[in-house]
Amino acid sequence: MNNLEKTLSIIKPDAVERGLEKEIKDQFLNNDFKIVEEKKIQISKSEAEEFYKVHQTKPFYNDLCSYLSSGPIVVMILEKNNAILANRDLMGATDPKKAKDGTIRKKYGISIDKNSVHGSDSLENAEIEIKFFFKD
Ligand code: CMP
Repeated sequence: MNNLEKTLSIIKPDAVERGLEKEIKDQFLNNDFKIVEEKKIQISKSEAEEFYKVHQTKPFYNDLCSYLSSGPIVVMILEKNNAILANRDLMGATDPKKAKDGTIRKKYGISIDKNSVHGSDSLENAEIEIKFFFKD
């Protein structure tokens, strides 16, 4: 069944810093995602706090927000049938040590913090996250 969805993807500072931007984008394209919009930006710590506010009670929240704002990131709107789940499968588990072979986090992730990519975890959050970065 046709269930075209959009999801938000971020290539995080650790991956941009290591020059993995093109390699990671190719993984999306080779898996039939369309990159509808993309931009390379650096966000402030307060913007990161707003973006990750669902995690504000977690012990790792402060470090997470410092990290996401520590260097350039690439934010993308990805489109595909069942894009949210498909992207989560392609990224692999949050902790690269637990991610399956062939996933982006297994290939490139350094640690649970520096796990190279973020992807929306639900349709509702995808809409919120896309609006956050692409306001018009
Ligand atoms: P991400 O998918 O961007 O969403 C929140 C991020 O918090 C997650 O990836 C991890 O990089 C980071 N994080 C750090 N510690 C933890 C943890 N213990 N559990 C889940 N996420 C964590």
